[in-house]
Amino acid sequence: MQVADQVTRTLRRPLLALADSDRVEAIMRRNGVSKGLVRRFVAGEGLDDAIAAVRDLAARSIPSTLDLLGENVTTQEAARAAVDAYVVILQRLADAGLEPNISVKLTMIGLDAGADVAREHMVPILERARAVGGFVRIDMEGSAYTEQTIAITEALHDRFPDQVGTVIQSYLRRSADDVERMIRRGARVRLVKGAYAEPAEIAFTDRREVDESYRRLMLRLLDAGAYPAIATHDSALIAAARQFTAERGIPPERYEFQMLYGVRREMQGSLVGAGYRMRVYVPYGTEWYPYFTRRIAERPANALFVLRQLVSG
Ligand code: FDA
Repeated sequence: MQVADQVTRTLRRPLLALADSDRVEAIMRRNGVSKGLVRRFVAGEGLDDAIAAVRDLAARSIPSTLDLLGENVTTQEAARAAVDAYVVILQRLADAGLEPNISVKLTMIGLDAGADVAREHMVPILERARAVGGFVRIDMEGSAYTEQTIAITEALHDRFPDQVGTVIQSYLRRSADDVERMIRRGARVRLVKGAYAEPAEIAFTDRREVDESYRRLMLRLLDAGAYPAIATHDSALIAAARQFTAERGIPPERYEFQMLYGVRREMQGSLVGAGYRMRVYVPYGTEWYPYFTRRIAERPANALFVLRQLVSG
């Protein structure tokens, strides 16, 4: 386990750097080397594939949040197309009798063109969410976007208090303050460790510090947050959440666990079996490469598999 941790730590940065490499992306797409592995983490390329995955999970009493993959769009047309797509997704989920719950990246709907653009593009998405009784989670991206993402969430939360929430990353040193900001206004937080490569000035780089920060923020959110989402596959942290909520008499309806599609599937089922709420993040779409690279960077077995394929292919 310790060796595995060391390998993950060593490979994480170079692997995360691959997320920006067009050359490696082209090789991966051309060779199809990682096809099986991609399908493990990504529900498919089209909305029908994604809805089928959401339906399968729902049959196991696991609700989903659906993510149309893509980030950092460079044109207005692409940003608008993503907004339209998200509105359609919410409606399709509602029409299919499934919970309309989606996760959105602000850079996919124009954040690089300005905070105003992304904020205004969120409005039709949230209006549709309100119309169908759904919820929209604003994913957290790299640290260049943290403050903007939180400020946009706050502005939108004023108008759509029941439809919008965001994500806080425990590896960022600023996150204790951000958690308090969200608690003060009663906005829903999904707590994650964080998936990007960040410098030591602003982020904990030691795994134990990231975990310790997660634990502190998690207990604070379980205690005072509005329906927090405990998004991790880390057994020790999940056990700590279970112990804390049992001790404090916090019922399972007050929060939910979240995991990624294809990761720790057995644990997803066993938590549901034990009476906890569990939601799975279901990504789909043709732009799977950066998401997939981040998942690979998290696990040595996956990372070594892909590196071997790249070297030999
Ligand atoms: P950690 O990485 O320590 O893993 C704990 C254990 O889980 C590992 O030992 C391994 O057994 C298993 N595991 C973890 N990842 C695995 C994988 N890919 N394959 C196989 N096993 C794996 N990040 C972000 O920056 N912004 C965001 O908006 C989100 N959104 C988000 C939503 C949801 C629902 C989840 C679960 C996660 C995110 N993340 C995220 C990603 C998050 O920041 C983090 O990178 C991953 O969840 C991995 O961290 P863990 O907490 O699972 O711990």
